[in-house]
This record gives sequence, structure tokens and C-alpha cells, in this order.
Amino acid sequence: MTTRRRFTLTQYLIEQRRRFPSASGDFNALLLDVALACKAIARSVAFGELTGVLGNPVVDVATSLNVQGEEQKRLDVISNEYFTQMTEWGGHLAGMASEEMDAPYQIPETLQRGKYLLVFDPLDGSSNIDVNVTVGSLFSVLRAPPGVIDSGRDVVEADFLQPGTQQLAAGYALYGPTTMLVLTVGNGVAGFTLDPNLGQFMLTHPNMTVPADTQEFAINASNSRFWEAPVKRYVDECLAGKTGPRGKDFNMRWIASMVAEAHRILMRGGVFMYPRDTKDASKPGRLRLLYEANPVGMLIEQAGGRASTGREPMLQVKPHQLHQRIPLVFGSKNEVERIERYHREPNAYPDARTPLFAERSLFRD
Ligand code: AHG
Ligand code: MN
Ligand code: MN
Repeated sequence: MTTRRRFTLTQYLIEQRRRFPSASGDFNALLLDVALACKAIARSVAFGELTGVLGNPVVDVATSLNVQGEEQKRLDVISNEYFTQMTEWGGHLAGMASEEMDAPYQIPETLQRGKYLLVFDPLDGSSNIDVNVTVGSLFSVLRAPPGVIDSGRDVVEADFLQPGTQQLAAGYALYGPTTMLVLTVGNGVAGFTLDPNLGQFMLTHPNMTVPADTQEFAINASNSRFWEAPVKRYVDECLAGKTGPRGKDFNMRWIASMVAEAHRILMRGGVFMYPRDTKDASKPGRLRLLYEANPVGMLIEQAGGRASTGREPMLQVKPHQLHQRIPLVFGSKNEVERIERYHREPNAYPDARTPLFAERSLFRD
């Protein structure tokens, strides 16, 4: 086998920094710390039950729920610790926020504080841990507000409530058959595969792009009775296949690890939906805006796809809460735009069981 010259993540970041000659290198150092946390999580995932990291923590049920009232797995807790421990020391961060922490995380006063905020879901798809199916980590880098940088004060929730357009970098790590890191620093999307011998992320997927069209969709169909009309219409039309209004057959996937679905869509196109539904009126969606929807949204849009709430572009949503949930639709541009159009004309499809009605002008506004 001939060896092939490949770039490492470090080399890629140096190359990207050349666009900003005055940059200090803090940003790159932060991303390398995040990559280190991901490598540590990959190792824990790979050892699985051998090191006893699977399952729920052996604690009171009341304390093993996270702020969202969801069950915390041991690996959720371990992954969160890797993120905080590997990134707090470098002096690049003003603070952090995580799915697994109720309030913002303060950089200890004994350490230096910096100008960036790190927001993350340390382990996404954690219902898959015990069954050895792909999980991942999601992260987003924001600039801390000037008042925080100048004073070095503790961070508060409001400091993190920035729309997705403000993200400086976003990415995910995927702990699958291979470990991958997929990253955008605002100049396209690059995918790196972990070489376990070198312990390095190697650039294997430069310029990842999402095809504009697709014949594959992902949605948790067990919620179908709670869906709103535009989503019912879209899915029914896909299911009707060649004989329906779309005139082509669709395939369906549901992994229940959004990172894995995002990766599939970045590799070959597709559309992912976790829309608003009527299942629980207190939850305007399943996924969280700041550390799930926004990083995926930035990656997908940097790759030429589209991310939306169904009603507005995801990256323009002004957050009002750290752990806010949001409806999420992302993937191939033409499909996401179609779903947005269906949301603008909800009365076009009064009866979900009769897809052909959608084509009849009688039922349109
Ligand atoms: P998390 O494990 O961080 O709580 O996120 C899981 C998310 C997402 O990855 C996935 O798409 C979705 O929840 C699965 O939800 P269902 O169990 O409703 O299918
Ligand atoms: Mn998640
Ligand atoms: Mn999680």
C-alpha cells in the first residue's frame, strides 16, 4: 500500500488562519482542545462495557435527570467532564454551556479567561449507547460579548443568547465505525477521520457538500399523529412515491442520533425533520437550539444545504433561553424549501390521509 500525504486537523487550521494574518492562534488552540475532548470520548465509547461506562449512573433517580428532565447516562456525564476539563485550561474561553449543565459553566478563577464561548451537547443520541449504535458530540463557538472580555466577569445565560449567524465555528464528532470530526470555521465544511495509530484527525473529506435534491427523508414516524398539517403533507407525498404528486420513490431512515443523520445528509443528501408537534404543548420541538440546531444549521448551510424551523431560517432565530427547544428541518436545499412552502400554505392539505387533495386547487387558499 502506498502512503498518501494527508493534512492533519492542525495543518488545516493553520491553513485557514492564513486568511486572518492578525489572528492570535487562540481560536485554533481552542478547536484543538475540543478535538482532544472528542478523542477522549471516542476512546470511552470504544471501550464500552469493558470499562463499565455504559448505562445510567448509579445515583438517585432524581439526580440522574439532566436539566431537560431526561435520563443522564454515565457516558453523558463522562463526556461532559471531558469537554470542560480539556477546554477550560487553555485560556481561550470566557465560559461554556452544555446540555448536561443547568447553568453556564464558569472558568475557575485560578485559570486564565479568554474571549470565546463554547456551547456543546457532549453526547448526542445517548439512547443508542447501550445498543452500540453511533453517537456523537456537537459544539459551537461564539464570541463572548465585549463586556465579558473586558471585565473577565462570570458569564450569565444572556451572554449565550446569540443567533446562529454569530457562530464562529461549529462541528461534530461522530463515534461510529470510524471516529470523525466534521468542522466549519465559516469557510466550507471539512471532514477528518481519526487515525487511531497516530491519534490524529486526518483530512479525508475536504469541501463536503449537500446535494440540492434527494429521495431520502428522516423523521420519527411514531409521532405522526401529533404532526402539523404541513409535515403530514410532506411525508404523505414522499410515501406515495412514484404514484403520488412527487412522481418518485423515497427511502426513509431514522437512527435517533442527529449527528449520524447529519453526517449521512452531508455525505449523500437527504432531509431531517424533528418538527413542532402537539405531543407536549410545553415543548416547541425536541431538539435544542443553541447546541444542536445551530451547529448543525451552520454546517449544513456552509455545505450548501438549508436549515430551518419550517417557518424561518434556523440561524436567524434569536434565542431566549439557554436550553430552548426548537423545531428543526435541515438537509437538501430544495426539499427544505418545499417544507417551508408547505408551512406557508397549511390549508392546502386539510386531510393527511388523502395526498392527492394537495394537488387540487379547490383545497388551496
Ligand atoms: P440527546 O441524546 O442529546 O438527548 O439527543 C437525542 C436527540 C437526537 O439526536 C435524535 O435525533 C432525537 O433526540 C431522537 O429522538 P426520539 O427518541 O424522539 O426519536
Ligand atoms: Mn442531543
Ligand atoms: Mn446529549
